[in-house]
Parts: sequence; structure tokens; C-alpha cells
Amino acid sequence: MSKAILITGAAGFIGSHLCEALVSSGQNVIGIDNFDPTYCKELKRLNLANLHSKKNFTFIEEDITNITNLSNLGEISVVIHLAAKAGVQPSITNPQSYIHSNISVTNSLLEWMKDKEITKLIFASSSSVYGNATEIPFKEFQNTDISYSPYAFTKKACEVMNYTYHSLYNIDIINLRLFTVYGERQRPDLAIHKFTNCIFHNRPILMYGEGDTARDYTYVSDTIQGIKSALEYINSNTGVYETINLGNSKPVTLSSLINIISEVTNIKPNIIRVHKKPGDVDITYADIEHATRLLNYSPKTDLKTGITNFVKWYCENILNTYSSC
Ligand SMILES: NC(=O)c1ccc[n+]([C@@H]2O[C@H](COP(=O)([O-])OP(=O)(O)OC[C@H]3O[C@@H](n4cnc5c(N)ncnc54)[C@H](O)[C@@H]3O)[C@@H](O)[C@H]2O)c1
Repeated sequence: MSKAILITGAAGFIGSHLCEALVSSGQNVIGIDNFDPTYCKELKRLNLANLHSKKNFTFIEEDITNITNLSNLGEISVVIHLAAKAGVQPSITNPQSYIHSNISVTNSLLEWMKDKEITKLIFASSSSVYGNATEIPFKEFQNTDISYSPYAFTKKACEVMNYTYHSLYNIDIINLRLFTVYGERQRPDLAIHKFTNCIFHNRPILMYGEGDTARDYTYVSDTIQGIKSALEYINSNTGVYETINLGNSKPVTLSSLINIISEVTNIKPNIIRVHKKPGDVDITYADIEHATRLLNYSPKTDLKTGITNFVKWYCENILNTYSSC
């Protein structure tokens, strides 16, 4: 059998979609996840439901910190490292756990790759590294030294650490800066999932600030397409160290987002305005020229279509069973 692709964070939102996409294109995939308790294990098990019957997919429940203890992984060609504690607000409450799960765990993985002579890594970084930058759209080479949250600085630290391993050990690395990914299986702490939950349960939506903050919402299948192209790129090149934005390049304000969810669900929301939270930035907005040039990346899904798909999935899978997760 061909060498496997190792996907960390395989039971998560993006990880499970990526595993499905690669498995269905015939790749041999090994997924690792420790079911980190940031959100319900049941949701992560549900994410993996379509994968268990696939012969070219193996799932290992394990913490990446213990990766050296796994003797049965076989030959790995590329690692796609999605495992992390994600989310800005909980990182402010508990920065140590983010430093461990994001920086130390990434270091354990890099050390293991070095020892096993695995020379290709795709890393999930984040738009949060741009902080509250006023130069928009965000370009990969602009200053990212000003972090607004522990989550942001852990992602920035990993990008810097990745460069060290690239230069010391010739590991080809692509840091993909993902911009607010949404769609079926989206994490329950993220706005679209949280607001949909509130709307269907007649609970008020807390709108932070005036509703004028904006996010570059990117539909998950577009993100997956970008990751697959990055995989092709890293497989066919050597000496690679790249940092690439994967966004939609069409920021949408918070109040417009709530209006679209309301339109799709056909339910009028009860909105309560509250103060903006520290750590939240005003706008995220990806310049995707580099991704277009290098990866032929071209996001296709408009927000209303993506939210319609999300709401359908939510009603079929979450509403009556897991909405308290
Ligand atoms: N979703 C987004 O909008 C977004 C935006 C920017 C960046 N990212 C990044 O993309 C990646 C995936 O995000 P997601 O939204 O799918 O999050 P997610 O929480 O759904 O998935 C992450 C997975 O990693 C697992 N994990 C965490 N620590 C682990 C460890 N030590 N060992 C093994 N597994 C571990 C978790 O159990 C979880 O299933 C993350 O690195 C995140 O920071 C996501």
C-alpha cells in the first residue's frame, strides 16, 4: 500500500472533512485525535461516522504528545497538523493549556517527524495572527508581531518554530492561515453554530459591539480544496517553506451574518447588544492572491449557500439530539 497521510485533529470539524475528501480520492489516511474536551466527544464521534467503514482510513485515539509511543503507524509521506485548541476567548481564560496543546504538541510532532525522517508538513495556522491590523486585505508578508490573544500567539509561535525545523532539518512546510471556516460540523463555539442554536431554541443572540465587526467566512469545502492543493504542491516540490492565506476575501459584518441566518431559518432573532470582548478583532480579510498563484485556489461558495447547508445539517443532526453540546 502507498505511504499514508497522517492527519492530526482528524475527529474535529475541518479534520473530519479533510479525512473524508482524501479517503474518497483513494489516499491511505491515518487520523489521530485525543477528543480534547473543549467540546463534546459525541460531536467528534459523529464527525467520524462516515469514515469507520473505509478500508483506507485508520483512526487512532491518542494525544500527539504520545506520538513516539505509536509503533504501528507504518510509513508516512506527509503530516497535516490540524490538532489544536482552537478559539480566541477560552485562550484568554486558560493560556497555559493553549501553550501546551498548540506550541508544545506541535514541537513533539516536529521532533517525531525529524526522528522518523518525515519531510513534509502542512500546518493549520490562523487569520488571528494578523491581530487588529488595519492594512486590509491581509497579506502574508505584513507584520504579524502584534497578537491580540494567547490563541493568536500560539499560532504565530508555531509558524516561527516551523521555520526553525525547515531550516535545520529540511522539512518542507506550508503554514495555511485559515479564515473563519464554517459549514456542516462547525464547532459549537463558533458564531454561526452558536447563533443557529439560539435561534432554534428561542434564546437571545448576544451581539458583541455594534454588529459592524466583520469576518472573512470561508466555506469548509473551499478550505478543503485549498488544503488538497497545498498537499499536491508540497508533494511535487522540495525546499518548500510557504505561508498562505486560505480565506474567502469577502468579509461580512456580524449584523449581516445574523440577518442571513434569520433569512435561512425563517425565524426572527431576539438580539441583545453587549460590549465587544477583549481579544476580538474588528475585521479579518484575506488577500488570496498568493493562494491563487501557487495553489490555483479559488473559493466558490457564497455565504447564504454555505449557511443553508449548515442549517440543514444542524436540523438533521444536532437540533433534537446534541444542541446542548
Ligand atoms: N475553524 C476555523 O474557523 C479555524 C480558523 C483558523 C484556524 N483553524 C485551525 O484549524 C485547526 C482545526 O480547527 P477546527 O475548527 O476543526 O477545530 P476542532 O476543535 O474541531 O478540531 C481540532 C481537533 O484537534 C484535536 N486535538 C486537540 N489537541 C490534540 C492533541 N494534543 N492530540 C490529538 N488531538 C488533539 C481535538 O480533539 C479536535 O478534534 C485548528 O488548528 C485551528 O486552530 C480553524
